[in-house]
Amino acid sequence: MGPLEPVRQAQPLPPGVDPAAVAVGDALFKGNCAQCHAVNDVVVGPALGGITKRRPMAWLIPWVKNSSKLVASGDEYAVKLFNQYQQQQMPSFQLTNAEIQAIIYYINSQEGVPKAAPVAVDAVAYAPSETVSGQ
Ligand code: HEC
Repeated sequence: MGPLEPVRQAQPLPPGVDPAAVAVGDALFKGNCAQCHAVNDVVVGPALGGITKRRPMAWLIPWVKNSSKLVASGDEYAVKLFNQYQQQQMPSFQLTNAEIQAIIYYINSQEGVPKAAPVAVDAVAYAPSETVSGQ
């Protein structure tokens, strides 16, 4: 066991969260979001740790699907954030509600994981190997 092993999962999963959903969220986050976001650090966009304490799912889902639309609608939080980030547009994503939820579960599971921890937390930490996708 390497020295970084014990810090894989900072937060216990909320009750009722399927570990397989976290594994799906992990892959989706890396494929779609990680170029601009980290959970615990500001990259191009805000650090996403604690996002469910700031915003409800009813806001997060339309935001991820089409943030520009939410900004254009005059949503106060969206407009403020957009301006705070030099009006950089986040791309729109053709993800399902369940996929966005899975990403959020993944983010919650990674909250507070120290920077030195491996970013590539593999799905094996959460799911039996037969549910691990990617091949
Ligand atoms: C090209 C860069 C980019 C990509 C890719 C991207 N985002 Fe963003 N995101 C941003 C920026 C910039 C903001 C700040 C708001 C703005 O400028 O529109 C933001 C804001 C957010 C917020 C609001 C954060 C807060 O603190 O309220 C959430 C949630 C979010 N992004 C989720 C995601 C998810 C989930 C993905 C992947 C499916 C993703 N983003 C992909 C750039 C990006």
